[in-house]
Amino acid sequence: MQNPFYYGGVVSKENFCNRKEEIKQLKRDILSGLNVLIYAPRRFGKTSLALFTLEQLKKEKNFKYIFLDLLGISSKEEFINEYFNALAQSLETPVEKAIKFFKDVLKIRPSIKVIFDETGKTKFQLEFSKNELSQTLKDVLNIPLMYAEKGKKICVVFDEFQEVEFLGIENEMRSQIQLHSNKVSYIFMGSKKSILKRMFLEKKKAFYRSVKHFQIKEIPKRDWIEFIKKKFNKTGKKIDDIYIEKILMITKGFPYYTQQFAYELWELTEDSVKDEIFTRAVKLVLEREEDLFAVEWENLTSNQRKALKIVIEKEGVRLHDEHVLSKYDMKIGSLRKTLLSLLEKDILDRKGNKYYFQDPLFEYWLKTKIY
Ligand SMILES: Nc1ncnc2c1ncn2[C@@H]1O[C@H](COP(=O)(O)OP(=O)(O)OP(=O)(O)O)[C@@H](O)[C@H]1O
Ligand SMILES: [Mg+2]
Repeated sequence: MQNPFYYGGVVSKENFCNRKEEIKQLKRDILSGLNVLIYAPRRFGKTSLALFTLEQLKKEKNFKYIFLDLLGISSKEEFINEYFNALAQSLETPVEKAIKFFKDVLKIRPSIKVIFDETGKTKFQLEFSKNELSQTLKDVLNIPLMYAEKGKKICVVFDEFQEVEFLGIENEMRSQIQLHSNKVSYIFMGSKKSILKRMFLEKKKAFYRSVKHFQIKEIPKRDWIEFIKKKFNKTGKKIDDIYIEKILMITKGFPYYTQQFAYELWELTEDSVKDEIFTRAVKLVLEREEDLFAVEWENLTSNQRKALKIVIEKEGVRLHDEHVLSKYDMKIGSLRKTLLSLLEKDILDRKGNKYYFQDPLFEYWLKTKIY
């Protein structure tokens, strides 16, 4: 029998748990043509949420979306080509029709070649000279608007958006996109909170205050309980709530790890989950992630390591008390500086006065090492 849990790539349909409120809100924002920024830690379910929502909207008349993952795009030329292809794929399907249309809309009329990529898929390749680059970029960025003006509802998703900083196209992007105001909705997504915050919250940056911040939270406990139980039951196995609660104490509802735990538990269980099986599952999950965590730990300075231990010991609050500082032999100023560097590295995050680990399993792993 196939394991009913899944972790790794994008999830949809029966592998998608809850997020009903977020989906409802996101739909509303998209249909009003708002621009939205979604940032959440790695493997938190951003891409799944966006695609799941957009697929539902796509069933409505006249709605199209374009999805572009910026990770791995390393030059302006490549961005133009990848974006152009994503647009062509969603907006115009037959190749001849697409070529004709795009030849008409692109002002500098680059030659458009049809090629086959490594997987045998047809792809377009725009060819233009260095001095035509800036105009071509502008034209391609404006394609969604043209479609919107023909009466279509359009949403463009830029996944791993922080990458545009390295591409150096922030200014051009912003200046075109802002002209699309409520006609096209843009979703900017990414997991590098520190970079995205800088891009959208610093006055001198192109995207300053141009978006609505969209929060996604952990999936609530009761939804996970229902989701996990149902999958166990459907496959003829049993799990008591207590074990699901134990999983959630470790994963804090973090989607990837919760699915990973459930996956391993299901795999080890013959008919019903027991203590001994649970312990083995925890061990397995930690073993799988261990190498990554060890590298992460080794790359930290000794002050950063101390600061993380302090966060664990004090459960994130009142980190500066004298007793702790003297125990770890740290000065208050250097602890402050170190905490900032950990926020900057996206290892810690902060809610009000409370510091917490972005990655709950890294925290758990560290606890098992310290204690
Ligand atoms: N709504 C959900 N219900 C159940 N599992 C989910 C949900 N969202 C995400 N997951 C789990 O988390 C994993 C990662 O999801 P996804 O790739 O969407 O996250 P992401 O935030 O885009 O990750 P990355 O930072 O790697 O791009 C999925 O493979 C799945 O196991
Ligand atoms: Mg993603």
